Amino acid sequence: MNKIPHLIMFDRIGSAGLGYISVAEVSKNIPFDVKRVYWTYYTPQDVIRGGHAHFELEQIIIAVSGIITFATEDSQGNKVDFILDSPEKGLFLPSKIWRDIKFSHNAVLLCLASKKYKDSDYIRDYEIFKKL
Ligand code: TYD
Repeated sequence: MNKIPHLIMFDRIGSAGLGYISVAEVSKNIPFDVKRVYWTYYTPQDVIRGGHAHFELEQIIIAVSGIITFATEDSQGNKVDFILDSPEKGLFLPSKIWRDIKFSHNAVLLCLASKKYKDSDYIRDYEIFKKL
């Protein structure tokens, strides 16, 4: 898996009559050992979250409900927007990617993370990020 932000598609198992299940499994469709899982919810629609990058953390983000928009930028200034509008889609974020995130009112963001939480892994100053 190349180390640029990109969408991955999870298989959709099931049927319209029974409903569906999708699976994230380490080394099958997740390129790192998952050390942490978190989810965010009830984010107001007018709020932009994120506003940071990580020195080392890699993540897979899934909008398990609703629509979540990621505006990403690498430290060279390459910008790509991703719209997570289906629970079949995952967004792979390598380290050192700035992200600004918007949520629909019903959005639930699920994150699979490669490392435990460490505040010192956050880069919250955009000017410092651009100098990486
Ligand atoms: P943050 O990652 O800044 O959220 P967002 O990018 O969505 O704006 O985290 C928000 C708060 O939650 C911050 O105070 C740190 C805390 N937090 C943890 O304690 N553990 C975690 O694993 C995460 C992701 C956040």
